[in-house]
Amino acid sequence: MGMRCIRLLHSYKVAVEFLVTLFLLLLRFDGCQASSSSSPTTTTHRCVEEERRALLQLRDSFNFPNGHALSYWVGDDCCKWKGVECDLFSSTSRVISIDISYERQSEQGTWYPNATLFTEFKQLQTLDLSGNKISGWINVQALCQLHNLKELWVGGNNLGDDGLPWCLGRSLPFLEEVSLWGNNRGPSGIF
Ligand SMILES: *[C@@H]1O[C@H](CO)[C@@H](O)[C@H](O)[C@H]1NC(C)=O
Repeated sequence: MGMRCIRLLHSYKVAVEFLVTLFLLLLRFDGCQASSSSSPTTTTHRCVEEERRALLQLRDSFNFPNGHALSYWVGDDCCKWKGVECDLFSSTSRVISIDISYERQSEQGTWYPNATLFTEFKQLQTLDLSGNKISGWINVQALCQLHNLKELWVGGNNLGDDGLPWCLGRSLPFLEEVSLWGNNRGPSGIF
């Protein structure tokens, strides 16, 4: 009786040990899965290379012919650059916000931004170009291709009545805010 009881207890112990080991193995396997999938995640949570190049192109055009603004835009991960914000909750981490307000240096004079430069940023939601002596645009219609745009800040520039294209109101379904305050030549009144 006592012997049988001990044997039963023993097999019970073996079974429990087996289950615990199995459980630990499964846990480990899970951990493996998690850590092997987390390393590519951390690398994708970085700047999209085309967008990094587009930002540098934007800086060149902003500084043309000999300015030195935005000189702090250096390094591989443009999501960490001042004034740049990426969508870190999506796997592509595309740029969602560009704020280069009040960056144009006084000696640089007026700026005519090439709107096509912004079309590389497919998920752009906020664009702040306030206070940069903008007197007009190159390819202004390209602004209407920024389909995810919610906010456009172009106050404190020298834009006239034709400062923004009419197509903005029709083409940009998410556009909530357009700021044109303090433009020397008056707001355009497209809304
Ligand atoms: C505007 O930018 C686009 C895209 O980089 C470029 O292809 C085009 O030549 C530029 N236009 C002018 C007039 O600079």
